[in-house]
Amino acid sequence: VYWYNTDNGFVENTGRKIRMSVCKTGGGKETEDFMLDFVAYIPTTYIFGRGTEEQAGQRMRALGCHRVLLHYGGGSVEKSGLLARVTASLDEAGVSYVLDGGVQPNPVLSKVRDSIACVRENDCDGILAVGGGSVLDSAKAVGIGALYEGDVWDFFCGKAQPKSCMPIGSVLTLPAAGSEGSGCAVITNEQTMQKSDPVFPVMRVQFCIMNPELTFTLPAYQTAAGATDMFSHVLERYFTNTPVVLMNRLAEQTLKAILQVAPAVLAQPQNYDLRAELMWIGTVAHNNTCGYGEEQDWASHNIEHALSGVYDVTHGAGLAIITPAWMKHIYKRKLDKFVEYAVNVFDVKTKERTKEEIAMEGIARTEAFFRSLGMPTRLGQIDVDESRFEEMVRLVCPNEDSITGHFVPLDRQDVRQIYTLAL
Ligand code: NZQ
Ligand code: ZN
Repeated sequence: VYWYNTDNGFVENTGRKIRMSVCKTGGGKETEDFMLDFVAYIPTTYIFGRGTEEQAGQRMRALGCHRVLLHYGGGSVEKSGLLARVTASLDEAGVSYVLDGGVQPNPVLSKVRDSIACVRENDCDGILAVGGGSVLDSAKAVGIGALYEGDVWDFFCGKAQPKSCMPIGSVLTLPAAGSEGSGCAVITNEQTMQKSDPVFPVMRVQFCIMNPELTFTLPAYQTAAGATDMFSHVLERYFTNTPVVLMNRLAEQTLKAILQVAPAVLAQPQNYDLRAELMWIGTVAHNNTCGYGEEQDWASHNIEHALSGVYDVTHGAGLAIITPAWMKHIYKRKLDKFVEYAVNVFDVKTKERTKEEIAMEGIARTEAFFRSLGMPTRLGQIDVDESRFEEMVRLVCPNEDSITGHFVPLDRQDVRQIYTLAL
């Protein structure tokens, strides 16, 4: 996946510091530029603080919407009273709405299709997503699908690129996926088990209301899975062959902030300031603040997406299992970077120790951190054995010569070994 550094070029991993930048206009030129070209497109307004959900109606109105699809999940927003407050705010702003709940974690294609039909039947002119990453991702898919004549999956299987998207506003209830700051939507096709994660700038949400109080009701497991996902979003950028000093240092400090804040939130789940810290970290971890101008990895995410595609695992929990296994599989090939990680993120002592010992302690500390949050770190803990490994390997690497990841490009054999290490 090369999207993070586009629009005007992408990177070919040559394993050297000379890279090929390929322009949209065709042709390619070899470049020795170290920092890659990028376009930073950040169209989202963030409205952060207590009571901000009361602005949902007026904000949708300001986007020119008169009738919105009110997209939400399995009921947490009804139980907490948030949905009632959001509908009251829509009423007050004179924006009508169609209730459209039932988005499930790891959102599925069939629901996206149903919601597209609902948009068309009811003549909706905007979408208000109220929930976590799954609801936001589903809303993005509906937003591009409803304006397209063909089937929405075309966008997820590489057959088509969306030209436009309905206006999308959002009220975030779970800091984790970072969908509020990304151009990505992750949707599972239940028939093929493919969990696809394309990136299209047009489907970025126009606004995101972030009231940390809304996260007080989160179960500890979801809070922890969210923190793990954030940690991984930074790692996917940190482990790069084209490091940019500013990005590296920001990444290390963001990781340290998660190490400090996440356990504190679990210990004091009703503490506003801690919840607020974690909520904004979730956005920063995935809005590319720590990744501009760098080639990024994303192997752990691809390997996890196959796991949660087949077994419907909570994404953050899957990452807590896959990430340490990925590290153990590749660290010897990139020893210096793993030493840098261990020392700068975990303050691992270097005196009288080999590079290998230092690197291994960094990996052990990563795994121990996930465990301390209450995350599983082995497939056995979530009742997954090797019986479907081949299926998962093929989802990650569809062809014999497919490669995943950039920091260390991995083939089918590598992916199989990583799943095995995770047992
Ligand atoms: O469905 P409801 O009843 O609302 O319950 C949800 C759901 O069961 C619950 N929840 C959310 N907010 C709550 C709450 N419960 C109590 N109080 C609250 N305030 O939490 C459960 C999980 O929600 P979900 O939205 O699935 O979690 P998350 O935000 O972690 O999103 C996960 C999805 O995002 C994708 C993942 O693959 C997964 O499908 N990702 C999206 C990315 C992106 N768009 O850029 C990048 C990520 O790497 C990730 O892949
Ligand atoms: Zn993630």
